[in-house]
Amino acid sequence: MKILAIETSFDDTSIAILDDENVIAMKTYSQAEKHLKFGGIVPELASRIHSQSIFSLINLTCEDANIKLKNIDKIAVTIGPGLVNTLQVGLIVAKTLSFSLSIPYYGINHLQAHVYSPFINKDCNEIPKKAIILLVSGGHTILAIKRHKNIKIVGETMDDAVGEAFDKVAKLLGLGFPGGPIIDEISKDKRIKTAELPIPNLPKYNFSYSGLKSFVLNQKNKIDVNELVKGFQFSAIKQLINKLKKLQEETKIMNIIVGGGVAANSLLKEEINKLEGNKYISKSIYATDNAAMIGYTAYYLIKNNLKSLKNNVDVIPRMKLDRN
Ligand code: KG4
Ligand code: ZN
Repeated sequence: MKILAIETSFDDTSIAILDDENVIAMKTYSQAEKHLKFGGIVPELASRIHSQSIFSLINLTCEDANIKLKNIDKIAVTIGPGLVNTLQVGLIVAKTLSFSLSIPYYGINHLQAHVYSPFINKDCNEIPKKAIILLVSGGHTILAIKRHKNIKIVGETMDDAVGEAFDKVAKLLGLGFPGGPIIDEISKDKRIKTAELPIPNLPKYNFSYSGLKSFVLNQKNKIDVNELVKGFQFSAIKQLINKLKKLQEETKIMNIIVGGGVAANSLLKEEINKLEGNKYISKSIYATDNAAMIGYTAYYLIKNNLKSLKNNVDVIPRMKLDRN
């Protein structure tokens, strides 16, 4: 089954072609630079850039995969969560291709795609039936439990998402955007000391990141910037690990799945790998937003009869992880 996948939920236009669970080609165009001068992603500009780049990306991806559009069997497209304007660009392109090629299209939940991203290029039978899910991105920080096809959220951030906190801290220290990879890179330097920051501990399995951000702002000119950055990363990641351990101890579930942009973080990977059980962490190229995870999720859902084809699908900007 050849799947053409489209992802336009935020500021990356990404197209992938999969043959069953394997990625044959993927092209991603990041708009980050174009939004830099505005200090954040401008939805109107983002949707315009998606429409300008999406067709040439589809052509390039087809060329790379050595496949013609007429040989595609199915289309997978992100329908949420994300920015309404940008999601609509991807969906209208998917619907148009579906209509003109007479092939079906499937609306995919971007958050579920992050969850399945560690299994891309692997047999989807390897996806454990029971697992703890840690979803860490620019928009979400979620701890959940997967039992067969059901996903139940057990904890979420009460304020900023962890990736968002990385981005805001880097911005207020004038380090650039996106903040995650920059802070990760600085923190790899073993000569830099780790400043001591509080590790938030909210009730149950919830998270908080706005206090850490305020701490950094208050200490900005009092502590060496690199030490402060390293201390921030340590606390931000430790908070995730503490809750993950607690959930593992309580549920005795020994499979851990980690997805989302922050899954690319070196310290997070190192700490997760110290935990007991089987760990499934997205590879860096499939951790941040990409179309391969959308195509893979469509394949998994179709193969397991978990996804029915619905006509007239619309975008769902506030789509939750547990919604199909
Ligand atoms: O999943 P993603 O590409 O987009 C959303 O769906 O939000 O995640 C983007 C987030 C950004 O906040 C970015 O700073 C963060 O992932 N990120 C990282 C790293 N690479 C990307 N955070 C920490 N360490 C990294 N290496
Ligand atoms: Zn994402």
